[in-house]
Amino acid sequence: MTAAHPSRLGPGRHLLVCGGAGFIGSCFVRDVLGRRDGTRVTVLDLLTYAGNRANLAPAEADPEQAARFAFVEGDIADPDVVERLAAGADSIVNFAAESHVDRSILGPEAFLRTGVIGVHVLLEAVLRETRRAESGERTDPTGRPLQAPRFLQVSTDEVYGSVEEGSSREGDPLEPRSPYAAAKAAGDLLAGSYRTTYDLDVVLTRGANTYGPYQHPEKLIPLVSTNALLGLPIPLYGDGQQRRDWLHVSDHAAAIAHVLEHGEAGGVYNVPGNTERENRDIVAALLAALGRPWDLVRRVPDRPGHDRRYAMDGSRLAALGWRAAVPFAEGLPATAAWYRDNESWWRAIRDGDWDTYYARQYGARLAAGEPVPTPPGWGSA
Ligand code: NAD
Ligand code: TYD
Repeated sequence: MTAAHPSRLGPGRHLLVCGGAGFIGSCFVRDVLGRRDGTRVTVLDLLTYAGNRANLAPAEADPEQAARFAFVEGDIADPDVVERLAAGADSIVNFAAESHVDRSILGPEAFLRTGVIGVHVLLEAVLRETRRAESGERTDPTGRPLQAPRFLQVSTDEVYGSVEEGSSREGDPLEPRSPYAAAKAAGDLLAGSYRTTYDLDVVLTRGANTYGPYQHPEKLIPLVSTNALLGLPIPLYGDGQQRRDWLHVSDHAAAIAHVLEHGEAGGVYNVPGNTERENRDIVAALLAALGRPWDLVRRVPDRPGHDRRYAMDGSRLAALGWRAAVPFAEGLPATAAWYRDNESWWRAIRDGDWDTYYARQYGARLAAGEPVPTPPGWGSA
């Protein structure tokens, strides 16, 4: 395959990773630094409740990786910090977002600020650096000309809305149904508009529901795992038959690196997990993996506007030469075991302001919760 542009990773290459202290961004940073190929990485992260320097500790504890790594605490919606950091970057990968649907229902404003204004500030910086590259002003400290930066916006299958049948392709209409998904769709549209209008080197990925180590315990898989370990009730929304397509975080990070390297400028790439499961089956598998009883599960009132199903067609990314590597049958129990073995990581998060969120999100729901009949075949595997 012919690369459409010079390599974005490797000796002397410099990545700006926005939101790199979160779940997927930190995996991407750990994996890129772990290649030991000379790539330098700067993380820009606001360290919201979801950002966590501990997620980057394995890289920072390794002297060779730490020498190629810098961390800047700051906001992607702040043009001063973004302009300064964009000036030295070969590529900008944007993971920064408010990422939890339930929180977007409780208070959407932060989602819009980061997802719309923040993405706009990043795109303006890419535009400025592109024009500087075109005029020959964009150089490294030795005066060597630098190419225009590539911008990769990390997006989600949720922008397609609830897909009752079949699977979404990249050209399908965007029909987001939660404030989270609407803010992400706005970011996708802005990125596309800067590609069309200003001819910027923009690429976009739309990933499936992602699971693995270091995910904030507000999301389904770590919430179920940590509640199970604590012996707390497990809230299952509605009938628990909503379907999600699950993608391991290391596969998601690898797909983003692959699109960064090989994606066509202006390209949009779905990143499916090809592992569709009902929520109640996920809960059953986690309880079985952790050896905890089914009677912890409570049926609670459903999420408003709850998307029933997500599914994406991944043939475009497959044609680009990418394949997922982690089978769900291995990844899910390994993830449950990671939460079991890394209690200090999640306990630190479930202290802090966790109780306020938990009471707001689950207090009344759990009070109205009911036991869920034991699923057929439970305990027989
Ligand atoms: P996360 O909530 O774990 O991490 C988000 C990170 O962004 C945090 O470190 C946070 O501090 C940082 N951040 C938030 N606002 C910021 C701002 N204004 N400026 C700088 N940093 C800011 O999220 P995640 O699960 O790692 O998701 C990363 C990206 O991937 C998001 O854009 C999300 O929409 C997308 N995505 C997530 C999933 C999933 O299942 N988790 C699936 C598909 C796509
Ligand atoms: P979540 O991890 O929040 O991801 P998303 O909403 O982005 O898909 O939720 C995954 C699924 O699990 C979703 O259908 C909602 C459901 N869910 C529950 O049933 N109970 C819970 O406590 C949570 C957090 C999610």
